[in-house]
Amino acid sequence: MRLSYALIDISNLKYNFLNIRKKINDVRIMAIVKADAYGHGVIETVKALNSLPEKPEYFGVAILEEAIELRRNNVHQPILIFNPVIENDAELFSKYDLISSVFSEKHISILMKANHIQGRKIKIHVKVDTGMHRLGIDYRDAFSFVKKLSRDKDIIIDGIYTHFANSDEKDKSFAQLQLKRFNEVLSKLKAEGINYGLAHAANSGAILDMPESYFDMVRPGILLFGYYPSEETSESIPLKPVMSLVSYIESIKKIDKEESISYGREYFTKKKTNIISVPIGYADGYTRGLSNKSKAIINGKYFPQVGTVTMDRIMFDIANESCKIGDEVILLGIEKGSNLQFSAWDWCKLVNTIPYEVMCGISKRIPRIYR
Ligand SMILES: Cc1ncc(COP(=O)(O)O)c(C=O)c1O
Repeated sequence: MRLSYALIDISNLKYNFLNIRKKINDVRIMAIVKADAYGHGVIETVKALNSLPEKPEYFGVAILEEAIELRRNNVHQPILIFNPVIENDAELFSKYDLISSVFSEKHISILMKANHIQGRKIKIHVKVDTGMHRLGIDYRDAFSFVKKLSRDKDIIIDGIYTHFANSDEKDKSFAQLQLKRFNEVLSKLKAEGINYGLAHAANSGAILDMPESYFDMVRPGILLFGYYPSEETSESIPLKPVMSLVSYIESIKKIDKEESISYGREYFTKKKTNIISVPIGYADGYTRGLSNKSKAIINGKYFPQVGTVTMDRIMFDIANESCKIGDEVILLGIEKGSNLQFSAWDWCKLVNTIPYEVMCGISKRIPRIYR
C-alpha cells in the first residue's frame, strides 16, 4: 500500500459531533456528508457517527449516488438529497426511500410518475430560495406552492428548508434578511395550519453564531470535520481537525549552490544543500499553486517546499538536517510531540481557498487510514 496517506482521526470526528450536540441542545442534526464526507470517506464517517448513542437524526448529501451508497451500507436514517430529481432517477427515490428536494411542479410530476407505478407516497423537503439564488422556489412563491402540495395525499411534506449565502461572515445582516424571509413563509403556513414537517436552515456558520436559525434541525458539514467555516465566525463550539496528510522521505540528494529544482527551473538553491523528494503531488490534491510557498513538518521542524509541485512528487530543502529515507513528512496536520502544525487554513492562505476545497481535493489515490 502507498505510504502517502490521509489519517482520519475518528475520535476527533466524534468529539466535534458531540460538541455540536451540546451547543444546539434538543434540536435534530442532519449531518452533511456529501462529497465523500468532505473527502474523509463517507462510509467510515457515517459508521463512526452512528456508533454514538446521540447519532444524527438525518443525513444530507448532494447527489443520488451518494444517498444510494449510504443505503447500501445499512444507513437507516432519513436521507435528504439537495439536488433536484431528474426523469431517469425518480424510481430510485422510492426504491431506496430517499427524500427529494423539491421546488417546482416539474419535480413533483417526475416523482409522482415513478411512484404511482410503485404505489407509494413521495417524501419531500421543499427548498426555499431566500437569497442564495442557487436553487429553490422564490420565498415569495413558497407559501402557495407548499399550500398546494399539502392538499395532495400522495405527498409527504417531511420538511422545508433554506440555505444561507454568508452566515459565516461577521456582518450578519444578509443572513438575518434571509432568516426573516424564511420565517415569513413559515408563519403564513402555520397561520393556515399547513403542516410543513421539519424546518431547517442552519449550516456551520449559523450553528456557531445564529441560534435563532436552528428551527427543528441544523445541517453541519465543515464543523464535523474540525474546521470553522471562515475566520470571521466565533469559535463557540470547540473543534479538532479530523484529517492529516502524511507522506515520507523517499530520496535525499546533495545539491550544489545555484542548481535548479523541478519543472520550469523556477527555484534555484542558494547554497549547497540537501533536497528530499516526497511521493505526493497535484494528482493527489497537493495543488500546484502551493509550489515554492508551502512547508512540511519533519522530525519537529518546518522545511520549505521548493520547485514546482509535480503530478506525483514534491521536493523540500532540508539544508543540513540529518533526516533519513523513510522519515515521516506531515503536509497537513499536527505533529505529535513537537505540536508543530500546518493546518488547512495555513494551506488556504497560500492558494486563496477554503478548508472545504482542500479536504475535498485530496484525491481517491490517497488511502484513508482511520484511527
Ligand atoms: C444545503 C446545504 N446545507 C448544509 C451544508 C453544510 O454547510 P457547512 O459545511 O458550511 O456546514 C451545505 C454545504 O455546502 C449545503 O449545501
